[in-house]
Amino acid sequence: MMDRNLALEIVRVTEAAALRSGRAMGRGDRRHADQLAVDAMRKAFDQINIRGTVVIGAGERQDAPMLYMGEKVGRGGPDDPEVEIAVDPLEGTNLCALGLPNAISVVALAEKGCFLSAPDIYMEKVAVGPRSKGVIDLTKSPTENLRAIADAKGVYVEDLTAMILDRERHAAIIEDVRRAGARIKLIRDGDIAAALATCKEDSGVDVLFGTGGAPEGVIAAAALRCVGGDFQGRLLPRNEEERERCQKMGIADMERIYKIDELAAGDVLFGATGVTSGDFFKGVRYTKGGAVTHSVVMRSESGTIRWVETEHHLDRQRPH
Ligand code: FBP
Repeated sequence: MMDRNLALEIVRVTEAAALRSGRAMGRGDRRHADQLAVDAMRKAFDQINIRGTVVIGAGERQDAPMLYMGEKVGRGGPDDPEVEIAVDPLEGTNLCALGLPNAISVVALAEKGCFLSAPDIYMEKVAVGPRSKGVIDLTKSPTENLRAIADAKGVYVEDLTAMILDRERHAAIIEDVRRAGARIKLIRDGDIAAALATCKEDSGVDVLFGTGGAPEGVIAAAALRCVGGDFQGRLLPRNEEERERCQKMGIADMERIYKIDELAAGDVLFGATGVTSGDFFKGVRYTKGGAVTHSVVMRSESGTIRWVETEHHLDRQRPH
């Protein structure tokens, strides 16, 4: 079982990444924003008593700076817990670089062997909040899923809103959702934040459909395990090289649909901090000598959701 105190420790890690990358908001350089987040997160991990191994790191697809797979993090000794870590130091690098909503920093922790080791390829996803748990099915069309979600929520399909990444590859899904009569919120980036939004009643988002990064899928599954939402994913290798990468990681069945607890099993901790304001978080606000951050920390076993608003007095901090 995970040490529950770790939940409060991991928020420092996402806060650190958000504080640094928040400075790059709107400055037009996504790589720089990402680099700031990665460096700050790596440094913050070194203050935590864990023996961590990164099993999911985002960025490989665009050759971005990353906390790479297999990288050891934390300053833990032999008596400290051994954990698996899934990170996305800056999820929505473009959102941050352009000052658009929903850039976040995220971390998920679990015991060894609990996260699906997925390569950084695409994954087809469907995600919903707690009130629609158990009714989604990736083998079915968006229309069929929308009908099931509407029934579960006791509303009409027309009352539902689907979030979908605005990509050409989603033309058929968008067409299907429109034909079903549901509303759509097309987003430029950030499908972890979109999956989280389905779990927040006042976000007005009911479901996420479409294809995004597989690492983001595993992290979203970890988050939704904690809040009681639901998620399914199917890896989508685009070529032989990606299929081989899957096979090397022990994934043989490319058609397999992964359920939420097959992507993130066991006792999972999840922490995230807003970089730019969005559906779930307020973004970083810099103040005289400091900054304010808005985060969440959650744990699957207890279902506890802690909202953390932190005043950082950067002018008073000791250099590490
Ligand atoms: P980055 O943070 O790495 O820029 O990723 C943003 C993102 O929008 C993810 O949320 C999503 O899963 C993925 O990129 C979609 O990939 P693509 O941009 O290739 O469609």
